[in-house]
Amino acid sequence: MFPPVFGFVILFSITITFGSPVVTENNTNVVSLNIQNANNGQAIPPTMHGVILETNINRGDDGGLYAELIYNRAFQENGRSLDGWLRFGEGSITLSNNQSLSSALPVQMKFTLNETSTTPSGFKNGGYYGISIQPQNYTASFYYRPSTSAYIEGGKLTIGLSNLDGSNIYGAATIDVYNAPVSVWSNFSATISVFDAAQSTQNVFFVAFPPNSRGDFEFNLISCFPATFKNRTNGVRIDIAQAFADLKPGFVRLPGGNDLEGPTIPERFIWNNTIGPLQNRPGRRGTWVGYNTEGLGIIELLTFVEDIGATPVLAVYAGYSLDRKAVPQDQLQPYIDEVIDEIDFITAPADASRMGALRKHLGRSEPFDIKYVEIGNEDFVATSTYSYRWPAFHNALSQRYPNITFIATTTSSIPSPPAVDDHDYQPPQFFINNFRRYENIPRPKPKVLVGEFSTINARDSNSLPYPTLAGAVAESIYRIGFERNSDVIIGGCYAPVLQNVKATQWTPNLIPFNANLVVKSTSYLAQQMFGANLGNIILNSTATNSIMTHESVQKGGEGDGKLGNLYFTASKRTDSNTLIVKLVSVDRNDTLVNVQIQDSLASSEGVMYILAGGPGVDPSTLSNTIYNPNAVSIITKLIWATGGKFSITVPPWSVVVVNLPL
Ligand code: AHR
Repeated sequence: MFPPVFGFVILFSITITFGSPVVTENNTNVVSLNIQNANNGQAIPPTMHGVILETNINRGDDGGLYAELIYNRAFQENGRSLDGWLRFGEGSITLSNNQSLSSALPVQMKFTLNETSTTPSGFKNGGYYGISIQPQNYTASFYYRPSTSAYIEGGKLTIGLSNLDGSNIYGAATIDVYNAPVSVWSNFSATISVFDAAQSTQNVFFVAFPPNSRGDFEFNLISCFPATFKNRTNGVRIDIAQAFADLKPGFVRLPGGNDLEGPTIPERFIWNNTIGPLQNRPGRRGTWVGYNTEGLGIIELLTFVEDIGATPVLAVYAGYSLDRKAVPQDQLQPYIDEVIDEIDFITAPADASRMGALRKHLGRSEPFDIKYVEIGNEDFVATSTYSYRWPAFHNALSQRYPNITFIATTTSSIPSPPAVDDHDYQPPQFFINNFRRYENIPRPKPKVLVGEFSTINARDSNSLPYPTLAGAVAESIYRIGFERNSDVIIGGCYAPVLQNVKATQWTPNLIPFNANLVVKSTSYLAQQMFGANLGNIILNSTATNSIMTHESVQKGGEGDGKLGNLYFTASKRTDSNTLIVKLVSVDRNDTLVNVQIQDSLASSEGVMYILAGGPGVDPSTLSNTIYNPNAVSIITKLIWATGGKFSITVPPWSVVVVNLPL
């Protein structure tokens, strides 16, 4: 259904005597937009449009952003299992806990050939819902422990990538394990070079023993990585990482979301379980699905945020988990100490503190720059204990880290915090109706991070499979509200972001993907237009129609940020002297906008980006999906300003961003 049109529609015929071109049209709204060119407007923080990197949900990190291809590499899934592993040829695979690799990884796989084998035999893994095989080098590795009875003909194993039945091998390597000491764990690695892409993702990684082998052989941490974003070891998947980077996010909130809190208190995000060698990371049960390997640990997460040029918003555990249990007040200190160690580990100089030295020892000498720390997640569901948890954490942390802004997750039951995180999962109309929401909140604090927001189905939350154009338009109206209130808004982020379409617990999501395809949803495209075109100051702007004057526009009234079904903001990048105008229409008709830049005679060529559905398209049903990833895309047009004036047409139900040198 076409979303309801509200407010008044300006339908009339008019001739505008300035601007280029001069247009006279029926059924086109005509708006005059006046923008004051200045260099002293309200500052817009660079964090304005961000993302959340919420671990676990929809297999967004393991099975998603984390580039590891092997599912259940350390046999942790389903309460310790061989899930995802199949044997081939002769022999059997079983779980073993005899002389484990480490206390963190107590269970391994045992491959047993009771009889001398007559065919190539071994085991294989189909990845997280498939493996994309592309022409590139893959880095494979495993830990290996042969028994006293073990014999491998020729002393070499073959590892590789093939189709499901092994009839097509895309790349392979041999690993010489001849000298591997008996009953001791050794680590082996090899490069698998692939020259031809596989047409399908129905592929496996395999480990093969030659015929004439026999005995017991144990394996753990069996891993295979493709090339990673920025070539990082233990890094992230290039296509998904690039989709993050292309959003130009100002901040990344991590690691959650609910997965920060964990299903129970012992299963919370424990930062120091996510650092160091992979064999020392125990992982934990996922809040939403499966098991978290925590291969993508706190250093890898923060390195990724740095690699895409964003500011981290670090969420820290605040003594409450999803089984609704809270740490009692008199037992909170160890949890506060845990967070102090975490922030020290991340931010302390390497040579001046124990935690900084540990970080350096693990390969990262430079501290990470942390400006925002959020204490907990959605504690509006647990105000009776947040009332003591927030003050305890905040008092200790704010004294120790005076340069960090601490963000509460509710304002109920606590003294006014420096900042608060608002979450809004709402139908489109909510975001449209709440355009002015942040004009009317207390100032100067608490500042607001809209740490999660997205358009859901009006009728049944979570039932919208993909973001729609109507949702993207409505979210953009909310974002215009953020920019206009940048004195109090730190920024906002759509949530959730990542969705492996084969392992979904929550829809809609900003970036759906499968093993070889990444979808830029309608909401993604709208946010990208905002993130990639961010001013650093707000410019005063007013819009009028034929029955108003710019002088008559009142703050908070028609013409200020909105006129009828058109929403707008103007800003400027003072470093490049560029004007940015953002316009969002929820009208059924085109809106001709004649722009006049006061105090500017700019005659220049600029760019206009348009996200729209086109004639006759219902924006509430238009989505980019895994089956039709490019149903909607951003259209780019050139525009020309003459003497500080230009005219553009804003299509029905659209998001438009103009970027013009002044
Ligand atoms: O983003 C999905 C979930 O929504 C988050 O984990 C949680 O913070 C919120 O309830």
